[in-house]
Amino acid sequence: MNKKKLRVAIVGTGFIAKQHYEAIGRLAGTEIVAVVGRDEAKTRRFSQEYGIENYFTNFEELFYMDIDVVHICTPNNLHYPMARLALENKINVFCEKPLSLTTEESGHLVELAKESGVLHGVNLNYRSNAMVREMKKRVEEELGDLLLVKGEYIQDWLMFDDDYDWHFEPELVGPSRTVADIGSHLFDLIQFTTDRQIRRLYAKLITVYPTRYKRQQSGETFAHTYSGEAEAVEVVNEDAAMIIAELDDGVKVSMHLSQVTGGFKNGLSLTISGSKESITWKQEEPDKLFIGKRLGGNELVYADPKYVDGSLARFAALPAGHAVGWADGMKNSIAEFYSHVRGEVDNSQSYVDFYKGHRLMQLVEACLISNKEERWVELGELNEE
Ligand SMILES: NC(=O)c1ccc[n+]([C@@H]2O[C@H](COP(=O)([O-])OP(=O)(O)OC[C@H]3O[C@@H](n4cnc5c(N)ncnc54)[C@H](O)[C@@H]3O)[C@@H](O)[C@H]2O)c1
Repeated sequence: MNKKKLRVAIVGTGFIAKQHYEAIGRLAGTEIVAVVGRDEAKTRRFSQEYGIENYFTNFEELFYMDIDVVHICTPNNLHYPMARLALENKINVFCEKPLSLTTEESGHLVELAKESGVLHGVNLNYRSNAMVREMKKRVEEELGDLLLVKGEYIQDWLMFDDDYDWHFEPELVGPSRTVADIGSHLFDLIQFTTDRQIRRLYAKLITVYPTRYKRQQSGETFAHTYSGEAEAVEVVNEDAAMIIAELDDGVKVSMHLSQVTGGFKNGLSLTISGSKESITWKQEEPDKLFIGKRLGGNELVYADPKYVDGSLARFAALPAGHAVGWADGMKNSIAEFYSHVRGEVDNSQSYVDFYKGHRLMQLVEACLISNKEERWVELGELNEE
């Protein structure tokens, strides 16, 4: 498939669909040829605004076109049915996280993926930030023995009791909100940077507002565009979670997740403690790594092709001071998948495929079981597929 332009379709016209559009636009040799949305007028406007030739409200119209990759950027409930159709119709598929609503669905996608002969990815974009790659490299090469891991993902966009959107509707979001939505990112970062799997965990899920006040929402995720009368609605999913876990070699992990912590917009951070030093990455300061030393001075390493490992230059193309950030991680995430689709390199370990996406769903499910039964859950207890 190399040389030819990749023909791409995007499904969804909301917050993340626009980020996919922009990221793909930065990748040479790509062409977005179709967009699929729910509302015809909105989808037409999207296609006109972004200069996309075809727009549809029926996903299956894509199967009559010549499409190399479809990006699924819809609410969670549509990931499984759409990814399934893409695999059955032999179209490479790049799906937003979480891969599905349940492990039953993600397990089925794994089975289909094995037979399909096409490539499948899930957008766990933070692993493709330059400094996360550098963190992984340093954990491998200079951290010493792994002692402890501490992760946090805290946000404030659902902090008020009248914040309400589709993330509170279990048929759209699944049985978990915060753990599936942002915990999945943290699980992936921890497993990717340490090159270990979480083998057991204990989770406490917390709903700070048992009742929320729902009004009409007109905007996309994070827009807070509400109007009309407020209706009291029972909240059935979690606003926060505290999780302790063990990696497969017994290293202990603590995680804190929250969507109700004032002032923290996208506060994802990870500290890995080793016998020689500790390393910290903070998403809100994404172009730096903090290297903590017991003896001598601490270090701040900046994203710059001169300062990161030579193999990582493609993730940090600009010199320090030209800060790499969230949008660069998105672009890299898609680029890693596309280079495999083009047959340039088999870098399936670089991105999250449906096998790893299913594993992340198992971690979400393990948190739900642990919380309900108030016990440690071994990942081995859950069905493999
Ligand atoms: N990787 C990340 O960092 C990240 C960030 C935000 C969201 N997400 C994921 O992206 C997905 C979408 O979230 P969002 O924040 O963009 O939501 P959003 O509400 O802003 O947008 C959802 C879009 O899906 C469209 N849609 C709904 N039903 C549809 C249908 N039947 N056919 C076609 N389109 C349909 C809606 O019209 C809307 O445009 C979620 O699964 C979320 O978890 C990922």
